[in-house]
Amino acid sequence: MGEIVLVISGASGAAYGVRLAEILGSTARLVVTDSGRLTMSHECEGLTPEVLAKRTGAILESNDDIAAKSASGSAEIDAVVICPCSGSTLGKLAAGIGDNLATRSAIVALKERRKLIIVPREAPYATIHLENMAKISSWGVIVMPASPGFYNLPKTMEDLVDFIVSRILDHLGKDNKLTKRWTGEELQ
Ligand SMILES: Cc1cc2nc3c(=O)[nH]c(=O)nc-3n(C[C@H](O)[C@H](O)[C@H](O)COP(=O)(O)O)c2cc1C
Repeated sequence: MGEIVLVISGASGAAYGVRLAEILGSTARLVVTDSGRLTMSHECEGLTPEVLAKRTGAILESNDDIAAKSASGSAEIDAVVICPCSGSTLGKLAAGIGDNLATRSAIVALKERRKLIIVPREAPYATIHLENMAKISSWGVIVMPASPGFYNLPKTMEDLVDFIVSRILDHLGKDNKLTKRWTGEELQ
């Protein structure tokens, strides 16, 4: 089994990426952009990528290190997840720009036909965001908006975060029981 590259970029919602890192553990290669570092610290009680990597066993790669394993097409990487994904990183992907490890690993996923999942967060979306999402979706990228469902009657922020992380894990092919599955009997 290959590893999973987890990119945390500078959109709000670092908690989604942090939770995903906790579940993926040492199977993750963690890349955090400069803005991702800022939002993580602000939204997750001063958390740093270094502490997150130590806590989860993820391998932390520098976003400036364009020669890191995650940048390579021949490396044993199964999938890339950008969670959360900023409009800026989304725009670079749609334009084919791989100017740092975060974007390069995603462009490599496109060329190698690896699974690529992005979790965009913005409100409202600009037309350019919507066009970029439609564009990369047509290339097979999974666009998983940071929009948790409420049909499981969430009680806590953790419930909301787990809803999205569970759907990401589903698309990575990883069994999980983070959230209740709809059975069809709920409204009977
Ligand atoms: C507190 C904070 C929250 C932000 N939230 C968002 C957001 O939800 N979505 C977004 O696209 N950009 C957001 N940004 C702006 C991005 O961080 C900025 O566009 C940055 O250039 C993204 O760079 P990156 O994609 O390399 O991380 C936010 C910035 C800050 C400081």
